[in-house]
Amino acid sequence: MKFATSVVLASAFLLQDSLTIEERATATPVKNTGKRGLSFNNPAYTMPFSLSGQNSQVSWAYNWYQTPGSGFNPALEYVPMLWSNASDLTGQWASNAQAAINSGSKYLLGFNEPDLCLPGAGSSCIEMPSAVKAWKQYMEPFAGKALLGSPAVTNGGSPLGLTWLQNFMGNCTGCHIDFINIHWYSNKWAGANYFKQQVQAAHAMSGGRPVWITEFGLDNSTPYTAAELQSFLEEVMEWMDEQDYVHRYAYFMDTTGALMNSGGTGMSDLGNVYNSYPEVSSASSSAPASSVTAVLSASSTASTAVPSAVFSSSESAIFATTSTYTSSSRTTSASTSSLTSSSSKSSAVSSILSSSSSTKSVPVATQTASEAAGITILSAYFADKDVTTAATAAFVQNGNLVINTYTLTSALSLQQDPWWGVVKTLSVLYSDAANYTHIFSEAEQSGMYTVNASAIPSSAQTPSIAASYGASVDVVGVVWGKQQIKTASVFGRIYYQQATKWGFEMSTQLFGVDGLWGNEKVGIVWYRDASKVLKSLVAREGQWVKF
Ligand SMILES: *[C@@H]1O[C@H](CO)[C@@H](O)[C@H](O)[C@H]1NC(C)=O
Ligand SMILES: *[C@@H]1O[C@H](CO)[C@@H](O)[C@H](O)[C@H]1NC(C)=O
Ligand SMILES: *[C@@H]1O[C@H](CO)[C@@H](O)[C@H](O)[C@H]1NC(C)=O
Ligand SMILES: *[C@@H]1O[C@H](CO)[C@@H](O)[C@H](O)[C@H]1NC(C)=O
Repeated sequence: MKFATSVVLASAFLLQDSLTIEERATATPVKNTGKRGLSFNNPAYTMPFSLSGQNSQVSWAYNWYQTPGSGFNPALEYVPMLWSNASDLTGQWASNAQAAINSGSKYLLGFNEPDLCLPGAGSSCIEMPSAVKAWKQYMEPFAGKALLGSPAVTNGGSPLGLTWLQNFMGNCTGCHIDFINIHWYSNKWAGANYFKQQVQAAHAMSGGRPVWITEFGLDNSTPYTAAELQSFLEEVMEWMDEQDYVHRYAYFMDTTGALMNSGGTGMSDLGNVYNSYPEVSSASSSAPASSVTAVLSASSTASTAVPSAVFSSSESAIFATTSTYTSSSRTTSASTSSLTSSSSKSSAVSSILSSSSSTKSVPVATQTASEAAGITILSAYFADKDVTTAATAAFVQNGNLVINTYTLTSALSLQQDPWWGVVKTLSVLYSDAANYTHIFSEAEQSGMYTVNASAIPSSAQTPSIAASYGASVDVVGVVWGKQQIKTASVFGRIYYQQATKWGFEMSTQLFGVDGLWGNEKVGIVWYRDASKVLKSLVAREGQWVKF
């Protein structure tokens, strides 16, 4: 139904253009059998691929999640993934996986980078016994109903990467692993040669199973040109298409500035190459490209429902951390183990919510009469982008905050990644029924959170620290990375800056703590001016701001 609407809108759109209508109105989704897939967050971005007249090689897609979201290209096979053993994901898995199978999915993917334990990396970091247990409990029941893909491992050196996978297969006795699933990132110098070696190494340990490469790309540890990236991609795609044991692959990723153009209105040049290389015929290459734009914009207009089930990937995380783990792969086990031991991701994640059990007697926790009024979002930022309005629509449910950090981009209806290449944080300043203010701040892809209006964790409450140095504002709340700052001396420094009106730099030094280890951060200072109007100073790490 939705697709039919898109086509109608699309053809109206096309009338304005110079090419003939027939030529363009024929660009409809068509299935093909190519090995290429799309790794996406925004289902609308699957639409430009695999249309008639493109000789498309793109036949499937996945979003690190269990359901594709609305607006997904009907020509593509959706492949669900059980991202980790987290109960919010395993709880829905059986029904989502079965629903996908009923709709034609033939494959299911196991965990995402369980071998990598790096906070904010977008990896699932699962200890071996837990991974085996979760596989047996959640994946095995689907053996024979779909083909099961192994946990997707990084190209990190032992004990990560293929070593981890080998150990998993050794430990998971009686498990049905139908194909091997790997990721690869490195720099342009390592390039295609290292890529092929890694795929061959996976083949060598696969026991004859097919190999999928569900994320790959050049990392940005060494800058590369668009031409270098394109020639890397062409070389490895051609090679993979020739290897019988490589069944499927997905470049990272189908988003703006990568396979989509920067405006998100159609394929980028690289996207065109990915879609059709090496068979782009001159007759069909230009016409579909612009009609795709029309289809896409029409379809995003038509789909008013916000897709709720799209996994916000590790897009940025991967790039931000790849250089870290690829370099660790070439270093000693000593540095690898320090990498592994820094695996505070899951514990850090639950900080705000788990602390609700130890809620102290703060005024807000005792509200009863007025709790029906619930939570009001005063201001919200995703990275340094103001998303206050969209956050209110997306996250306030029955007066509570319900936030799924796996789906932020789609929940906030963002067409573009606000800070490509970095793990972003969602920071929300909210008030309760009694007008106390609190802060929620977490990294993308770190979990699903509910802040119950009648049991707001005391840790969320903002401190009340009076102005000093003659400052004429009231600082309401401060966040650095994903950490709320409550230190009086930091408030003092901020008041000092307001009083002097000098510029200051958003830095770990200013805030006194690294609020998101290993990643570039956004700093937010919410304050009320002399007229009590809520304002904010927001900037990225290293940038200067001024009251
Ligand atoms: C998931 O695995 C981790 C080990 O990495 C374990 O600590 C945790 O309890 C597991 N979660 C569930 C819900 O079983
Ligand atoms: C099980 O995994 C551990 C590492 O977690 C590894 O040392 C061991 O060799 C594996 N066992 C088998 C049978 O592969
Ligand atoms: C909270 O603030 C709003 C707006 O300033 C005001 O209308 C309301 O009465 C206040 N509520 C309480 C309980 O103080
Ligand atoms: C919120 O907390 C109250 C009190 O603990 C509880 O009765 C209520 O069921 C909770 N609501 C939700 C949506 O969890």
